[in-house]
Amino acid sequence: MKTIIEPFKIKTVEKIRMTTLEERERILREAGYNLFLIPAGDVLIDLLTDSGTAAMSSQQWAAMMDGDEAYAGSKSWFRFEETIRGIFGFRHIIPTHQGRAAERILFASTCRAGDVVPNNTHFDTTRANIEYRRATAVDLVIPEGTEPASFHPFKGNMDTLALKAAIEISGRERIPLIMLTITNNSGGGQPVSMQNIREVSEIAHRYDIPLYIDACRFAENAYFIKLREPGYASKPVREIVREMFSYADGCTMSAKKDGLANIGGFLCTNDSTLAEQEKELLILTEGFPTYGGMAGRDLEAVATGLNEILDEDYLNYRIVSTQYLGDHISRAGVPIVQPPGGHAIYIDARAMLPHIPPGEYPGQALCCELYRWAGIRSVEIGSVMFGRRDPETGQETPAAMELVRLAIPRRVYTQSHVDYVVEAILEVYERRSSLRGYKITHQAPFLRHFSARFEPA
Ligand SMILES: Cc1ncc(COP(=O)(O)O)c(C=O)c1O
Repeated sequence: MKTIIEPFKIKTVEKIRMTTLEERERILREAGYNLFLIPAGDVLIDLLTDSGTAAMSSQQWAAMMDGDEAYAGSKSWFRFEETIRGIFGFRHIIPTHQGRAAERILFASTCRAGDVVPNNTHFDTTRANIEYRRATAVDLVIPEGTEPASFHPFKGNMDTLALKAAIEISGRERIPLIMLTITNNSGGGQPVSMQNIREVSEIAHRYDIPLYIDACRFAENAYFIKLREPGYASKPVREIVREMFSYADGCTMSAKKDGLANIGGFLCTNDSTLAEQEKELLILTEGFPTYGGMAGRDLEAVATGLNEILDEDYLNYRIVSTQYLGDHISRAGVPIVQPPGGHAIYIDARAMLPHIPPGEYPGQALCCELYRWAGIRSVEIGSVMFGRRDPETGQETPAAMELVRLAIPRRVYTQSHVDYVVEAILEVYERRSSLRGYKITHQAPFLRHFSARFEPA
């Protein structure tokens, strides 16, 4: 059969409140044209993020009922620890309430002022946690990784020549660790190849620098390796994952992605001294080392989710259904980051709306129109999010790309929801020259995209 079906049946449903165009125009106006300020109940299809938005399985809900809420050494903790050790192979597992808490503890324990941390592309919370230590986060993705239209099977790869140069320039003593983000979220959800993980690991270890993996979407990355990298087609994903992590010394993980959980995370390391230090910090802000920032039932949800994500029927459906959205809009001419990533499709708003200058936020214009026209919530990843504003002159430097991200929550929407999204995007694309830009009427000094208010320009 050519048709790939959702490999699950639906047991519980959540009503979507239908809205009219007039209602959505009012809602948009009242929210200052900022989709973060719209109540979720007023959204028809919510593609704001794939983080913490997965639908849990009956097995996960059943395991949650069995959650052991003992403060120390609960049954649920031992299950969580054993599952993670079994999948990733690390010696020490430190539970946290989400990914950024793992990052904070890792960088607080390893990073000093003046240090440099290379990554393919740092996610914003990773970068922020490094910069908070007054260290520098450096992005070293291969050149293809920053060109939306270029095709490469592993656009998330790190540029190994640039990595060697960065180590030589900064000096090994200023690099506490090297990171690889799989898949590369900020670069379009693009995978990293096994060969690249191996090469980065060899370079790191030659200089005696630990390699950490930001593991948020580890299973999607492993499935891309199975599909695209010679020699892996017949290997089970579980073995591919084990090999990927065998090259690393530790990882950070937000279980809100490939943990199929609504909250949770962890930090892993093979270094026993470091693990002790990290556990001390954990106790200060997260909790006792056998629950971190999670309830016993959350530990159960994550442990069950980590096993479910490795189901290859699920992974095939996941990658194929994201690609389905990307292919259907790009075949009709909509410019997207190519090839489609694992968890999201990114529309290149600069290429789609060349008549709207970066200073009038083409990505924001497209996000607002997709909501106004069809009730779809997406997120701008362009000059609203990453443009730099000089506080004295008010002059803005635009972001490198003007993207709109459509992130697909795991196991939440069916093919007809995706068909609706395709239809809406193509209708907006047909009349793209009529879209107008926006100006900001209010903004906060940091992370302005969350609270800024806009008006049509
Ligand atoms: C690649 C990557 N790293 C880290 C994080 C941070 O995880 P959390 O939101 O759980 O703090 C995210 C979240 O989106 C992410 O995509």
